[in-house]
Amino acid sequence: MPLVSAGEFVVAGAGVGAFNVIQLEHAEALIAGAEAAGRPVILQISENAVRYHAALEPIAVACLAAARAAKVPVAVHLDHATSPELVREAVGLGLGSVMYDASALDYDANVAATAEITAYCHEHGVWVEAELGEVGGKDGVHAPGARTDPEEAARFVAATGVDALAVAVGTSHAMTDRTAAVDLGLIARLRDAVPVPLVLHGSSGVPDEDLTRAVEAGIVKVNIATHLNKVFTAAVRAYLADHPTVVDTRKYLAPGRDAVAREVTRLIGTVLTR
Ligand code: G3H
Ligand code: ZN
Repeated sequence: MPLVSAGEFVVAGAGVGAFNVIQLEHAEALIAGAEAAGRPVILQISENAVRYHAALEPIAVACLAAARAAKVPVAVHLDHATSPELVREAVGLGLGSVMYDASALDYDANVAATAEITAYCHEHGVWVEAELGEVGGKDGVHAPGARTDPEEAARFVAATGVDALAVAVGTSHAMTDRTAAVDLGLIARLRDAVPVPLVLHGSSGVPDEDLTRAVEAGIVKVNIATHLNKVFTAAVRAYLADHPTVVDTRKYLAPGRDAVAREVTRLIGTVLTR
C-alpha cells in the first residue's frame, strides 16, 4: 500500500483513529489492528516520544517502512511538536502530516508561529494540524477546564491556513480512567463554525459511547495513547505474573502487542464508526 498523508482520509463524516507509537511493537499492533478492521489508521509520534528515543529518525523510518508494507492506508504523523526544527526534520524524513502545538502561547503568538510553520509545510505538501484552547494534562496534571471558542477557532483557521484543528472540549491528556465529560454541544458548534476537520486529543479519558457521540457531533481525528498503553501494560503484566522466570523480551511483549491490535480493531471497527 503506498504511503498516504493523514489529509487523504481525515475528512469530515467519519472518525479516524490516530494512535501513538513509542516502541516498534506499537506500530506493528496499530497496523495489525487496522488491517483486521479493514480501515485506515494514523500512526503518530509525539515530541515526547522523540525525546524518549533522543531522536526522531529511527522510530520514524521504522513507522514509514511498516506503513508502506501495510494492507490498509496508513499515515505517519508528528504529534504535539513545539519545535519548528523537529517539524522540518519530520518533513524531510517523509512524514505526510504534522501537529504543530503552539497552544501554550497567547492567541496572537499562536497564530504567528502556526502560520509560519503551516506555510513551510504546505510548500512541501505536508498537512498541518494545530491546537487552539490548550487541551490540559500534557504535564500529567488532569485539567479538563479549557474550552475552544468557535468564533476564535474560525478566525484562527482563516489566519493560519491549517488543515485540521485540535479543540478543547472537556478532555484532558493521560487520563487512566474514562470519566471525561465531553462537551458534545460545543463540538457541534465548532463543527458548524470551523471549515476544517476537528481533532479530539486526550481521548483515552472518554467512554466508548461518548467517543461515538463525539464523532457524530463533528470530531474527525480521534487521538488515543494512554488507553492503549494501559491495554499493552496489562497484558505484559499478566504474562510476567504467570511466567516469573521469563527473560526473552519477545515472550512478554508479544501478548502486549496482540492485545493492542485487538483493541484497535474494536475501536476503529465499531466505536469510531458512525
Ligand atoms: O496527542 C495525543 C493524544 O491526545 C493522546 O492523549 O494519552 O490522553 O489518549 P491520551
Ligand atoms: Zn494530544
